[in-house]
Amino acid sequence: MAQVSMTVNGKAVSGEVEGRTLLVQFLRDQLRLTGTHVGCDTGQCGACVVHVDGEAVKACNMFAGEADGAEVTTIEGMANADGSLGTIQQAFQDHHGLQCGFCTPGMVMSAAALLKDNPNPSEAEIREYLEGNICRCTGYHNIVKAIQAASDAQ
Ligand code: FES
Ligand code: FES
Repeated sequence: MAQVSMTVNGKAVSGEVEGRTLLVQFLRDQLRLTGTHVGCDTGQCGACVVHVDGEAVKACNMFAGEADGAEVTTIEGMANADGSLGTIQQAFQDHHGLQCGFCTPGMVMSAAALLKDNPNPSEAEIREYLEGNICRCTGYHNIVKAIQAASDAQ
């Protein structure tokens, strides 16, 4: 076991992890931040996307120890300070960018990373960026619309 410390959603946290403990396990099981989902565990679905030092990463593809000292943001960190939905979350709600909601945390985190790098992406750029995020429900159309709306609202 090893000690890891990181900042998650602006709060300093630490815990004991095994070398094989994944970041997503640390976030969900130890910190109880269960908004980050596990859809596949093999790096394909994108349900587990979080930000590590500002970059979108699949938290099932990273060991907790690799995030030692990092700044991590999860979907729980995307709300406004008063607890209301953040801009991207609100756009997903307004544009029906979700059905079952399982993929949504990862979609929102990927969208946030895209809009940080490219505040006005084209539809094609949004679709290309979301290649690593799988949604079984929506057909992606409303997800793309939501991200376009979030881009306009920023
Ligand atoms: S759970 Fe990480 S990519 Fe599917
Ligand atoms: S809304 Fe159900 S998987 Fe995307």
